[in-house]
Amino acid sequence: PTPSDPWRPLAHLTAEKNWLNDPNGLVYHDGTYHAFYQYNPQGNSWGNMSWGHSTSKDLVHWEQQPVAMEASPDEEIFSGCIVMDKNNASGLGSAETPPMVALYTSAYGKNGALPQGSQAQSVAFSLDNGTTWQKYQGNPVLNLAPTNNNFRDPKITWYEPGRYWVMTTVVADAQVVKLFKSTDLLRWEYLSDFSGVGAQGGLWEVPELLHMDVEDSTAKKWVMLLSINPGGIAGGSGMQYFVGEFDGRRFTAENAAAPGAPLTESQWLDHGADYYAANSISGAPGDKPVLLGWMGNWDYAQDVPTTPWRGSMAIPRELTLVRGAKRLELRSAIAGAARETLDRSGEVKSKNLTVGSSPQDLGQEFRGRTQLIELDMDLKSAREAGVLLRHSSSASETGLRISYNKETGSVRVDRSQAGTSNFSGKFSPFHEVALPSSGSKVHLTILLDSSSVEVFAAGGTAVISDTFFPDWDNTGSSAFSMEGDTDFTVTTRGL
Ligand code: FRU
Repeated sequence: PTPSDPWRPLAHLTAEKNWLNDPNGLVYHDGTYHAFYQYNPQGNSWGNMSWGHSTSKDLVHWEQQPVAMEASPDEEIFSGCIVMDKNNASGLGSAETPPMVALYTSAYGKNGALPQGSQAQSVAFSLDNGTTWQKYQGNPVLNLAPTNNNFRDPKITWYEPGRYWVMTTVVADAQVVKLFKSTDLLRWEYLSDFSGVGAQGGLWEVPELLHMDVEDSTAKKWVMLLSINPGGIAGGSGMQYFVGEFDGRRFTAENAAAPGAPLTESQWLDHGADYYAANSISGAPGDKPVLLGWMGNWDYAQDVPTTPWRGSMAIPRELTLVRGAKRLELRSAIAGAARETLDRSGEVKSKNLTVGSSPQDLGQEFRGRTQLIELDMDLKSAREAGVLLRHSSSASETGLRISYNKETGSVRVDRSQAGTSNFSGKFSPFHEVALPSSGSKVHLTILLDSSSVEVFAAGGTAVISDTFFPDWDNTGSSAFSMEGDTDFTVTTRGL
């Protein structure tokens, strides 16, 4: 970041210029992570949807590549996925050069293969490690008869017992996930619908089915990730998930919230306002899914004040399925590769202090615009305690306020006084999550970047991701405690 580009993140993927939204076609191949994403090559708001492309070795530093697939007046390239077709089942490559195969949504324009406004699933492939892409001659490969204007977002997973690929897609405005199967990635056969549970919201988008180990057991479960907009837990866009079984045809959610139940009964990957359309990196090393999400919310994403770029990805997360008090839950942690880079990137500075009624400055070491902070608090006699980040040098009331309330057992991120916010009336002021057990001690992992914060609580089962747009000069950090004393141990490493 610089004073003229003050909100450019250091530890998150952005495009050099122009608009981006959903991550697409996430794939790890030959030691390189590829992120493709919804991208407008022509401007800084949504439109001309194309697939941008960036690569990374460590999931923190990204290098932008040429646009992979560009919109035309006939067809925009909406969200989708990529798999390595190792055995060349599609026949689009050869045994020596297996193809990278993308499934994406064609959003048809004037002279498209289907009527203007309709959406269907198409194939493209690359024989040069994702640099250049050719569209398959037989597109679209999957259409709903006669046509549908909201049939989109294919994501594929390999189903080993049946030895076929399973695709999840949505009919977004009908709030339904549709599943299909294929052995060659080109011919798709209908399997089933998934609908009618959990938060219904407005549109259902970007579904994904994951097969996961249950921690500390030999059991495995299937998890359905689903982005909904509007209707998320923090208002506008949000991501919920369901845990259950998949029998090769049908996904059945277990212990899911009933439709119409309070939103808090659904399971959410994130309780902040800016985590959407996350999906997993195909072929990522390790045995846990690694997700990349968009740090945006359709309520105001097009209005945020950054230029010449708009939109950033979240820090990649790895997921673990753990037993919670009532049901299985997803735990998120900063993905191993990213965490290693962050851990190596700067010297650890730590501080122990007891804070009473007046806030204490955390000092010079905590002034970075990009920091990974580990915060331990013991609210001995206090009701509420936390840190104020990116505040002015006079340590005023303003800044990004991250707090834990012992009485309600909840963590809150308040961005209402943290900088520019008048660009949209829908930029919600604060977000909160109740931790599974309340007590006087709490540990938070906080990844602060130039215009975002990601707070991992309760071992990662409660996460808040929020964007905010602080003044360049405000780099103060302090600790506060309300109505009593709190012991703090806080460490930071800057980038
Ligand atoms: C989700 C989404 C997808 C669609 C894409 C278009 O944010 O609306 O459903 O494919 O963005 O850019």
